[in-house]
Amino acid sequence: MAGSRLDPWLGSYASRARSMSASEIRSLFAVASRPEVVSLAGGMPFVQALSVDDIADSVAAMIRTKGAVALQYGSGQGDTTLREQIANEVVAPVGISAHPDDVVVTTGSQMALDLVVRVFCDPGDVVLVEAPSYVGALGVFRAYECDIVHVAMDEEGLSPNALEDAIAAVIASGRRPKLIYTIPSFHNPAGVTQGPLRRTQILEIANRHSILVLEDDPYGLLGFDGPYADGAAPRAMRADDSQGVVYLGSFSKTIASGLRVGWAIAPHGVREKLVLAAESAILCPSNFSQLTVSDYLATQPWTDQIKTFRELYRERRDALLESLEAMMPRGTSWTVPEGGFYSWVTLPEGLDSRAMLPRAVAALVAYVPGTGFFVDGTGTESLRLSYCYPEPDRIREGVRRLAGVVESELTLVNTFGSAGHHADSGQQTPSPDVA
Ligand SMILES: Cc1ncc(COP(=O)(O)O)c(C=O)c1O
Repeated sequence: MAGSRLDPWLGSYASRARSMSASEIRSLFAVASRPEVVSLAGGMPFVQALSVDDIADSVAAMIRTKGAVALQYGSGQGDTTLREQIANEVVAPVGISAHPDDVVVTTGSQMALDLVVRVFCDPGDVVLVEAPSYVGALGVFRAYECDIVHVAMDEEGLSPNALEDAIAAVIASGRRPKLIYTIPSFHNPAGVTQGPLRRTQILEIANRHSILVLEDDPYGLLGFDGPYADGAAPRAMRADDSQGVVYLGSFSKTIASGLRVGWAIAPHGVREKLVLAAESAILCPSNFSQLTVSDYLATQPWTDQIKTFRELYRERRDALLESLEAMMPRGTSWTVPEGGFYSWVTLPEGLDSRAMLPRAVAALVAYVPGTGFFVDGTGTESLRLSYCYPEPDRIREGVRRLAGVVESELTLVNTFGSAGHHADSGQQTPSPDVA
């Protein structure tokens, strides 16, 4: 294949790079980051709620006492003290008891996702993912040329019946799914949470078919109410199955995403492969970031900080839900998250969230269209709203603008039978700030 004037290397890329494409909605998101636009698109944690002075003090003390280590290469598996803290303290609230040897520290949990797929998936391997699923995970699966199969969800997340059916269909096609990728707690983007029974059912199905479960849990400590009030975190699947589950965690939402520190907890053999894969990708995760996190955990009231985050996000979730209730046209529905950052909105019949986005941005409000969370072009009737970043008043204003846009789309549909946009389908890859 020949190159082009814009990219002379176009013909030389590996086949896996061909499935990596920037979305046309990226340019819209560039506009959406202007201050006059209320962005309900981005999944950025509100790091302004951290005490910068405390972090500055702890970084200064860390670099004075451990500078030679912090500024040096480290272990591919991650800093020993941090792995102990993760295994002994950080994952205790989700019910996991792990040995520090089972932990691999990564550059955000995004990298852990990449490593797991790298060591498990050949091109064409089937991975089962929720419908909808996390954009960043879909990007990894596509990069490794996996065959991505969406499995339906309900108000309690991944549906066991749909999972059974999907597995049966894959087996009937002469293949075997490699992974079940799930976000059981405070789902991105669906905002729903699997209850304990649901988790047991999914584990039972996965074990019966010998399919590895990849449990992605960056939001588990950010529950607000219902069964997750007062800091009660949903029990991780890994807590009940140490051999069949690889668990991914992150400090991005509980401390700071800019530090880029996450981890995987994996069965022994898998852990060894992950470390080898990590070494070939980056040699080792940043010692500076790891020691910063480790000192923060040792010296700062980190559980109080998570409580602060939980209260802040609950207030924003309430602002979102109240204003959706008050302002959205009839026929719109949404999920009620009990934690995390997101609510999944379903538009009145006939509306297309992707086609509507330019009008929403023109009305100074942004969201992520549902199609971004599927690989098969479905999701046009849905969109994701994030309440983590804007202040409550901005959220209310954003919903007011969005309701106006939905209202006028509805008028168009009712008058002309369509809102008059072209409705391209296909997967979109928003930039990291909207992931
Ligand atoms: C479900 C899910 N998994 C993984 C990540 C990646 O997080 P990080 O790499 O910052 O740990 C995110 C970020 O938004 C997410 O929502």
